[in-house]
Amino acid sequence: MSASILDGKGLAATICEELIPRIDDFLRSGGRPPQLGILLVGDNPASEVYVRNKRRRAEELGLDVDLVHLPATASLDEAKLTINRFNESESHDGILVQVPIPLGWGSDASRELFEQIHPAKDVDSFHSINVGRLMQNRATLMPCTPSGIIELLLRSEIAIEGQHAVVLGRSEIVGRPLAMMLLHRHATVTICHSRTPNLASIAATADLLVVAVGRPVFVTHDFVKPGATVIDVGINRITDPDLVSTLIAADSVRWKAFKQRGSMLVGDVHPDVQKVAGALTPVPGGVGPLTVAMLMVNTVEAATARLLSNTS
Ligand code: GUN
Repeated sequence: MSASILDGKGLAATICEELIPRIDDFLRSGGRPPQLGILLVGDNPASEVYVRNKRRRAEELGLDVDLVHLPATASLDEAKLTINRFNESESHDGILVQVPIPLGWGSDASRELFEQIHPAKDVDSFHSINVGRLMQNRATLMPCTPSGIIELLLRSEIAIEGQHAVVLGRSEIVGRPLAMMLLHRHATVTICHSRTPNLASIAATADLLVVAVGRPVFVTHDFVKPGATVIDVGINRITDPDLVSTLIAADSVRWKAFKQRGSMLVGDVHPDVQKVAGALTPVPGGVGPLTVAMLMVNTVEAATARLLSNTS
């Protein structure tokens, strides 16, 4: 058996196209495009790429983007001033603080910043009010990566209700909110993490396996029940030629690209899972583009809700 590949990139393009009439409506009623404020701090190369992708997609759709890029030497107070400016602005509809932020700001800093964002503009949905609403199944804005995964499952007609979903990873950005969203859609959900014993044997009971552990090619075929759907949330850059040579053929296009660049992107799921799974998301081109698409959806949602609340 060879898994069918779930085309996240294609679906992301469709979701963005579907937004165009809503953006046009907003423009007509609001007299301006929706605007996203992004705060990026420091020079984490991966964050720079993610923010560039978010900005590019937003601008392609005609949204305004106000990107504030502070140096790693900036203070937490400077970051808070930026968020306040976005909060108080009439024309900023969505606010996003790209994480990670500088380690020197302390372990609570990202939470402090998320709490500072006005909940109605919280397009990542990391504010405790939005986290609480999600728990109660009455959220209006939901975290982008989990909503992208739900959208992919729904549109690929992969059943959620009554299925055993195993989520590997308990992060506040992906694992925990996704587990809750799957539960609201009547899956039986197991959350596993770095201290779970017998990880592979629990994962192998899943009809739906979501992997968000941040460890390159960690999940191998023995973690996967034949025919299961596997969603790979990992985006890891690897540089070790010995590892790369075990993953791709030496005469492949990807190998040539690796030799040129000196690095390659891989997920948390090993390629040998393709032989066992029923359906699998690729990396790149799977969950990553969906995260960006759902950020666009949330920005338009937030903008529309603000417009309606100002006019009602
Ligand atoms: N860093 C990694 N993923 C995300 C995300 O979804 N949102 C933000 N703000 N930062 C991230």
